[in-house]
Amino acid sequence: TYHISQSHFLTLGSFSQEDIYFLLEDAIKLKKYQKEGIPHPFLQGKVLAMLFEKASTRTRVSFEVGMLQLGGHAIFLSSNDIQLGRGESPADTAKVLSRYVDGLMIRTFDHEILEDFARHSDVPIINGLTDSHHPAQVLADLLTIKEHKGKLKGLKICYLGDGNNNMAHSLIEGAVKVGMDISIACPPGFKPDQSILTSMKKETLLTGSSIQVGECPVEMIKDADVVVTDVWTSMGQEAESKKRLKVFAPYQVNKELCKHAKEDFIFLHCLPAHRGEEVTAEIIDGPHSVVFDEAENRLHAQKAILKALLGN
Ligand code: CP
Ligand code: NVA
Repeated sequence: TYHISQSHFLTLGSFSQEDIYFLLEDAIKLKKYQKEGIPHPFLQGKVLAMLFEKASTRTRVSFEVGMLQLGGHAIFLSSNDIQLGRGESPADTAKVLSRYVDGLMIRTFDHEILEDFARHSDVPIINGLTDSHHPAQVLADLLTIKEHKGKLKGLKICYLGDGNNNMAHSLIEGAVKVGMDISIACPPGFKPDQSILTSMKKETLLTGSSIQVGECPVEMIKDADVVVTDVWTSMGQEAESKKRLKVFAPYQVNKELCKHAKEDFIFLHCLPAHRGEEVTAEIIDGPHSVVFDEAENRLHAQKAILKALLGN
């Protein structure tokens, strides 16, 4: 059987193209088992701790349900309720939790906190979102695109809005790995992290994809097969929300702008969404939207991640 190249799931950029395709294929299998009621206890008796420093609906519930469906168990830990919130270090927390559980999913702020956990943990660390990456979400997004479009390679995906957030970064990494062309429409000052762009641009040569970053939404969305946006104010940025409403206004995904995408484009949003801000109700609740398939696929994609990292 195939073994993925990493022992932690921190960013999509650190995985090989083969790893990503393997996880997607396994997610499709696991989804089929679940739909057909076929038991698949690959993680019998295994325990996942889930540590949250930020709010969550989808990530929390899908990881917990995923562990249960795989025959294991999940423990929800809020940073307010464990000693981490009172100053115990990530290093000590990681070492202690490693003695009890088989894996640790973490949602936190600075990506370096996650890396700190990974350095000191003896069990796999899974990224449940940091300020700069949301790889579990994007694996579910790739699965959703594959289901709706029948393929990934050669498609064009356009992301509009905050080019410097977790979703933009993970989408760039995910798209490049599977050979999709990605365009990012964002205002000046909100461009993706330069180091991610540089390392992923190198990989486009291997996977036959391309990355485009530009300020003009009409130009960037042109002929896109997949249109994606995200909240304008991410968790932790609440103080800037007024300013952000203004800067991102030209990037709203609405019917007028989507006229420039392919006629059969699909619309993705990791949710939660703000109708009337980054997307209009007409689009997110309309015929092009696949956001609830996308939300469901968190479950299936993450089960593939859990099975690959925590399984025998
Ligand atoms: N998309 C996503 O990660 O949702 P939650 O914040 O609800 O987990
Ligand atoms: N960019 C958003 C994603 C939420 C799932 C945030 O970080 O708040």
